[in-house]
Amino acid sequence: MRFPEYRPRRLRKSEALRSMVREVRLDVNDFILPFFVRPGGKVKKPILSMPGHFQLSPDALLAELEEPVARGIPAILLFGIPDKKDPVGSEAYAKDGIIQKTVAKVKKAYPDLVVITDVCLCEYTDHGHCGVIHDGDVDNDATLELLARMAVSHARAGADIVAPSDMMDGRVAAIREALDEAGLDHIPIMSYAAKYASAFYGPFREAAESPPQFGDRRSYQMDPANSDEALREVGLDVEEGADIIMVKPALPYLDIIWRVRNAFDLPLAAYNVSGEFAMIKAAAQNRWIEGDRCMMEALIAIRRAGADLIISYHALEAARILQGDAPSLRKK
Ligand code: PBG
Repeated sequence: MRFPEYRPRRLRKSEALRSMVREVRLDVNDFILPFFVRPGGKVKKPILSMPGHFQLSPDALLAELEEPVARGIPAILLFGIPDKKDPVGSEAYAKDGIIQKTVAKVKKAYPDLVVITDVCLCEYTDHGHCGVIHDGDVDNDATLELLARMAVSHARAGADIVAPSDMMDGRVAAIREALDEAGLDHIPIMSYAAKYASAFYGPFREAAESPPQFGDRRSYQMDPANSDEALREVGLDVEEGADIIMVKPALPYLDIIWRVRNAFDLPLAAYNVSGEFAMIKAAAQNRWIEGDRCMMEALIAIRRAGADLIISYHALEAARILQGDAPSLRKK
């Protein structure tokens, strides 16, 4: 096919034509919306670098969930901010920890909502690292047991899916084994399989109050320069029993999403992280870009790269747009 017989512009003439030949679409069913919960009552504390997002107490979270649930967002991802932190992150696997209590409340109020919990110690340790520290670095094998305990305790509280984000070697196998031993063999694991040591997590660390107090996470999260290694990392998690695999961050790593998509047939999630969200919000607030259009373009790019599921702080706003409830994008 070539010009002048073939004229690609023929099928771009109207929105109806464009819509007919559109290759990928966004669907509310593919969205996962993250939330940050902290102990207390009636707490709704704005996260400055993430406009529209808050640290919420469990009761406030229930109120915030009304609209996403009504709009058909199928799943949420919960992060906990405990009252007390210590070197081994005890609150992470405490029976009455913030996540355990919140999950129980959410499942009671919204039984059909899929509740995914982040399994990682960094929000719970006083040093802010994702595991226990020995000799100035995170001790991999000593951390596995704590992560497994955390996952089991989340599942016992009612979590539908556990999502380990720590990047310890062998954690998917350790969590799978612990869940199965606890009679929780029906609980899926969504593993942060290829998670990079990214500066795009900046706003999250304000939101979750989890910055490392010394050093950084480069001894356990991946080097941004590596792509073959991502396939090895994902391969390990698949072998260890992951049910859903994830690439994180999303936009600076679309090539990784694409490669993982082509190499594995498990459901693939991409995490459109806090910094990606904050950049769009900040530029839009300055009127430097049209926020809603950039948001939808970013989300469709993640789908086009091959992600089945998108974890995004934009999920609710995008759902409003998809459901025709956003004045700024009405057709001209
Ligand atoms: C916890 C965790 C982080 C994110 C998700 N889980 C932070 C980190 O690894 O430092 C980042 C999410 C985001 O930026 O939106 N380990």
